[in-house]
Amino acid sequence: MKLFLDTANTDHVAEVAAWGVLDGVTTNPSLVAKEGKEFKPTILKMCELVPCVSAQVTATDAEGMIKQGTEYASWHKHVVVKVPMTTEGLKALSHFKKKKIKTNTTLVFSVPQAILAAKAGATMISPFVGRLDDKGEDGMQLIADIMEAWSHYKFDTEVLVASTRNLEHIRKAAVLGAHIATIPYALFQELPKHELTDAGLKKFLEDWEKVAR
Ligand code: E4P
Repeated sequence: MKLFLDTANTDHVAEVAAWGVLDGVTTNPSLVAKEGKEFKPTILKMCELVPCVSAQVTATDAEGMIKQGTEYASWHKHVVVKVPMTTEGLKALSHFKKKKIKTNTTLVFSVPQAILAAKAGATMISPFVGRLDDKGEDGMQLIADIMEAWSHYKFDTEVLVASTRNLEHIRKAAVLGAHIATIPYALFQELPKHELTDAGLKKFLEDWEKVAR
């Protein structure tokens, strides 16, 4: 299972990359705006730290998406062009597939959308589980459904669980065999922790003090 950080903060990417467990980063226009930094240098810095960095196009027509995405892809071989799940986005996805440019389809909320993106040649699809939970639906059920559909067909497209909000999302993503989870920084900090690890380590160190050295 690959783990991505969902952020546009390069310090956070450097910190988690140093753990040796980080496979990529997803950004979106909201995350980039929050950091208040220039887009291209931010993406390039992240590309030096991890092998896979999603950079989202902001054009809404296929021609504009193709122009923007082609430019992003020329910046660094680690760039993945993030394309919204629209009919214009589908046209752009099939173009990028032909050009061997990697893509991540964002804002996926249903199985039919997932299938269309996969058929158009998306490298990854991002179903947003937290936003479904927010409106009273079960986001992880969508992942279960997509993984079941994927078990029937030969899609190469990786399922990237996005909009994660809690450890349960990550646990279920792993159990369901989702290929990737993208995780916000605060939640990523929770992954290594367990109260029994802390208590166990405390006891080991206390006992070690009793050992003659
Ligand atoms: C994924 O690529 C998106 O950037 C992200 O996961 C969206 O998360 P949010 O719903 O918490 O904004």
